[in-house]
Amino acid sequence: MTVLVTGATGHTGRHVVSGLLDAGVDVRVLVRDAAKAPAGVEVVQGDIADLTEAAEGVDAVYLLWPSFDSEGIEKALKPLEGKKVVYLSAMSAEHGGVWGDVEKAVQRITDDWTFLRVTGLATNTLGWADQAATGVVRGPYGQARRSLVHERDVADMAVKAITGDHAKQIYLVTGPEALTEAEQVKLIGDATGKSTVWEEQPVAEAKTQLGQQMGVEFATTALGYWASLVTEPEPVSLDVARVTGHPARPFEDWAREHFS
Ligand SMILES: NC(=O)c1ccc[n+]([C@@H]2O[C@H](COP(=O)([O-])OP(=O)(O)OC[C@H]3O[C@@H](n4cnc5c(N)ncnc54)[C@H](OP(=O)(O)O)[C@@H]3O)[C@@H](O)[C@H]2O)c1
Repeated sequence: MTVLVTGATGHTGRHVVSGLLDAGVDVRVLVRDAAKAPAGVEVVQGDIADLTEAAEGVDAVYLLWPSFDSEGIEKALKPLEGKKVVYLSAMSAEHGGVWGDVEKAVQRITDDWTFLRVTGLATNTLGWADQAATGVVRGPYGQARRSLVHERDVADMAVKAITGDHAKQIYLVTGPEALTEAEQVKLIGDATGKSTVWEEQPVAEAKTQLGQQMGVEFATTALGYWASLVTEPEPVSLDVARVTGHPARPFEDWAREHFS
């Protein structure tokens, strides 16, 4: 079996690569910069928009779509026709958006698909690193509760899905608990050894900032979602434990691994 891993230099992809190699699977990676490719794998240099060369002869693909819109998805996925596709999606896919569009496009090219719908990746909080070093992290909706998931749990799920039969399964991939953003910041402070607190940022200011990073439409949707999490926390799913055989890793452990 040969598996193509996209996003192999990223947070989840690098662990998917090592997990597949540990499982004795041949791995090919698609990377934009060959110098950043992991060791022990076949390397194809290119962009995700054109998977023709990368997909040639592979049986399965770990797919992520690193864009805030789905333009070009049909053309990009064409070379994956009939192959096993394990796609890193999002819980919000059920409401459409980019993740919903990509899921539909995957379903149009293969029956052997598995969707890993994450609530949020714990790696999102790495964006707070500079502020955490000052002891204060500013953001909107500090009381929003998120069940952020460790990237290793996503990768463990992906390896199981690729090496086993998980066709047409949609898994909800979450951490083991839903913590407020303020609680996450405190745990990051505990990990760094510098007491760190949350400071509430006015929503209008956050909207301007996020709009510059991810586009106004995406930022507006994201802010509306975080607002809803103050009263309706993200769910906690047991799918990681069911599929991998181990419980999801707590955010506290994730923070210690990445911030200490
Ligand atoms: N953040 C969340 O909470 C969340 C929630 C749901 C779903 N997701 C999904 O998770 C994905 C991110 O996964 P991750 O954290 O494992 O990755 P990541 O650490 O964000 O890294 C992105 C990866 O994609 C590669 N990449 C970016 N643009 C590319 C292009 N045009 N062609 C080929 N490769 C490209 C990057 O390669 P380089 O080394 O070349 O930059 C890198 O390997 C997102 O795209 C999103 O769809 C995220």
